[in-house]
Amino acid sequence: MTTPATPGTSATSAQPPSTPVAPEIVAEDPDGMRAIGARLAPVLQPGDLIILDGPLGAGKTVFVQGLAAGLGVRAQITSPTFVLARVHPDGRLPLVHVDAYRLGGVAEVDDLDLDADLARSVTVVEWGSGLVEQLAGAHLRIEISRPAGDEAGEVRRVRLRPAGADWAQRLASLGLAPR
Ligand SMILES: Nc1ncnc2c1ncn2[C@@H]1O[C@H](COP(=O)(O)OP(=O)(O)OP(=O)(O)O)[C@@H](O)[C@H]1O
Ligand SMILES: [Mg+2]
Repeated sequence: MTTPATPGTSATSAQPPSTPVAPEIVAEDPDGMRAIGARLAPVLQPGDLIILDGPLGAGKTVFVQGLAAGLGVRAQITSPTFVLARVHPDGRLPLVHVDAYRLGGVAEVDDLDLDADLARSVTVVEWGSGLVEQLAGAHLRIEISRPAGDEAGEVRRVRLRPAGADWAQRLASLGLAPR
């Protein structure tokens, strides 16, 4: 997590007016997380970069499962931890799913020699914060956290943080605008 989430669900009052507050979405269970990913899929465009933030077991890969299904990818999405990246070419847009946990930097993403053109694909990077922002001129950061004291529970909190380009407008079109 780059920015600690403001406790509670009504974060607006504590923020300076110039800082848009990403809405918090609650995923009650894995299917709820997949539904958030699927909801985002229709607004994705070639060249998009999505950075997934959150601790081990947060639900990043589960989120990608929903996003992939929303794009029409038929393959089962599993963690690419041991292969670093997988390309799923069969959806509305090619989906490049990267796990940057063991990558040292953006150069290594380039060195993966993916069989995909990132400018024509949607690239989703688990553990990509601070590493892969330079892959594109803009990105959507998705922060997934567990409520404190709920280590064993299923509830996850998801924040969508648009950075650049028209991400904020696209989220707004989904009813997920920063405020
Ligand atoms: N609300 C929820 N959303 C997502 N996953 C959940 C939820 N509740 C329970 N889970 C479980 O938590 C686990 C999340 O695993 P997942 O592989 O998606 O995490 P991850 O963030 O990708 O971890 P890693 O950093 O190891 O890649 C799964 O076993 C999933 O079933
Ligand atoms: Mg994962």
